[in-house]
Amino acid sequence: MSDDKILLSESEIPTHWYNVIPDMPSPPAPYLGPDGKPLNPDSMAAIFPPAIIEQEMSTERWIPIPEPVREALRLWRPSPLIRARRLEAALGTPAKIYFKYEGGSPAGSHKPNSAVAQAYFNKIAGITRLTTETGAGQWGSSLALAGSMFGLEVRIYMVRVSYEQKPFRRSMMQTWGGEVIPSPSPYTEAGRKVLAEDPNNPGSLGIAISEAVEEAASRADTNYALGSVLNHVLLHQTVIGLETKKQLEKVGDYPDVVFAPCGGGSNVGGMMFPFLADKAAGKNIRLVAVEPTSCPTLTKGHYAYDFGDSAGLTPIMRMYTLGHNFMPPGIHAGGLRYHGDSALVSQLYHEGILEAVAVPQKATFEAGVLFAKTQGIIPAPESAHAVRAAIDEALRCKASGEPKTILFTLSGHGHFDMAAYDRYLAGELEDYEYPDEAIAEALKQLPKVAV
Ligand SMILES: Cc1ncc(COP(=O)(O)O)c(C=O)c1O
Repeated sequence: MSDDKILLSESEIPTHWYNVIPDMPSPPAPYLGPDGKPLNPDSMAAIFPPAIIEQEMSTERWIPIPEPVREALRLWRPSPLIRARRLEAALGTPAKIYFKYEGGSPAGSHKPNSAVAQAYFNKIAGITRLTTETGAGQWGSSLALAGSMFGLEVRIYMVRVSYEQKPFRRSMMQTWGGEVIPSPSPYTEAGRKVLAEDPNNPGSLGIAISEAVEEAASRADTNYALGSVLNHVLLHQTVIGLETKKQLEKVGDYPDVVFAPCGGGSNVGGMMFPFLADKAAGKNIRLVAVEPTSCPTLTKGHYAYDFGDSAGLTPIMRMYTLGHNFMPPGIHAGGLRYHGDSALVSQLYHEGILEAVAVPQKATFEAGVLFAKTQGIIPAPESAHAVRAAIDEALRCKASGEPKTILFTLSGHGHFDMAAYDRYLAGELEDYEYPDEAIAEALKQLPKVAV
């Protein structure tokens, strides 16, 4: 029997990130400024360093990873690709199931892959402070870690419901030297406005982004770092898919179907984009983003121009959206609670190259528990969405007798999410479908653009 863990040496960490843009069937829809006209990249200079702006707009297929970033990645990369043989046996499926485990990073997810790159490019641009938002706490932890590695101060606006549900994520960020503020907060115009309307507002990623962007735009020593959605973040995450391809080559295998949990799209892009060129060249591979039924951005949202945040401070992007004022229910997969999605993922989904599926919360935790019992790792609730979809596919294979090869990203571990597992085990979790009327209402607030 071949090994279950497929490992690479540190010298095999990719030397370049893969930019999907030149391999897309049509060029990406331009970002728009507040006037509804295509955005001048210079206008992003108030919050991003030059290298990041260049990556955001680049049409180069391969972008070199600077040596200090590769050096930082070596702390946890290459990550293992693991054959889930015990899960396969428990399901009695003829399918082969592989997962790429990103939970071995210090912060416990794929998010540090971009955090170290963003911290590095800000550092060399002379920036000393970063602001950001965090939902589940994974991104905030990752940026706090990266700040400590590259000597930058980090202030994190944490969605209030997560701040309350996850005190140890907060301690983790503080241990790495990060400053954590529950959002909405009284420190920014955007936060004060929301609190004036509702002092008990539970917060959302959209509001926390507004606060972090507002602060960064008002201080010369401070930039903003985003943990998902933007092209450069997906670019940094392509180390996931590039390593996975090499690992599968080593065992002479290739996936029929790939699943990844989708919040803003960074691990979807990171895992799937490197496979996209193969698909364009005629390879028969399905690439499926998995989202919760409570925040069904791709499966029920509209493909439209919208803001990335609730106050309307970000560029206007063409993406699948539930409306930038979307107030998501307090489901436990905080990292999947974003109203929009990456513009690149959205466009590829719109063009039928990527697929999407929505799964309910209880079935997601059921899958997480089965995975923990078979493979040992307790998945982050976000990651458990991909586990659910992979299990469903494996069960379809069992019914049809097809020995497919299934691959998914296990984007993080759930060690800081045990309160959510507690509620599941106590039978207290409920399924929630975001109502169509609420989506229709939120979409009335879309910005008016000429395009
Ligand atoms: C473990 C984990 N997986 C997935 C996600 C979703 O983010 P993205 O869609 O950017 O990969 C998050 C976001 O916080 C996360 O923490």
